Amino acid sequence: MHWLMNLKPETLRQIDEVITHYPVKRSAALPLLHLVQADAGWIPPEAIEWVAQKLELQPINIYELVTFYPMFRQKAIGRRHIKVCRTLSCALTGGYRVCDQFQKEFNCRPGEISPDGEVTIEFVECLASCGTGPVVMIDDDLHERVDAAKAKQLSEQIKTAASRRPSP
Ligand code: FES
Repeated sequence: MHWLMNLKPETLRQIDEVITHYPVKRSAALPLLHLVQADAGWIPPEAIEWVAQKLELQPINIYELVTFYPMFRQKAIGRRHIKVCRTLSCALTGGYRVCDQFQKEFNCRPGEISPDGEVTIEFVECLASCGTGPVVMIDDDLHERVDAAKAKQLSEQIKTAASRRPSP
């Protein structure tokens, strides 16, 4: 299946709209990549070619952006994305232990996709809630004061939601 089929119609609509906001099409490259990643979870190689074509550029022009900016992921991630803050305040209050707990729960290391395809755990820098660390973001939801027990509880919630998802 062509990877575009995985993007939501809403994303495709936003992409077409964003392009109209810029007098020069190429200026829409970063917003387009953000939209693709927000929906697909990463920037697949096919997306690089597709975005280039849309903006009448060469794939290398887009590839350079994707490799230059660290926020763009070039590897697929699991269905759920667990981001654990490792900046100073959260590190001092136990962020690394929290990450260990998630790794144990899903049997994978940071940056990998868990064997069941359910999650990718990642260390990230400050999530702007330093007074209430350790802080974890799961997809778009922020969780504060996460200790190992809470990490276990959040993992259980993810597993329960996964078991209820209708099989494809
Ligand atoms: S240090 Fe973790 S949120 Fe700022």
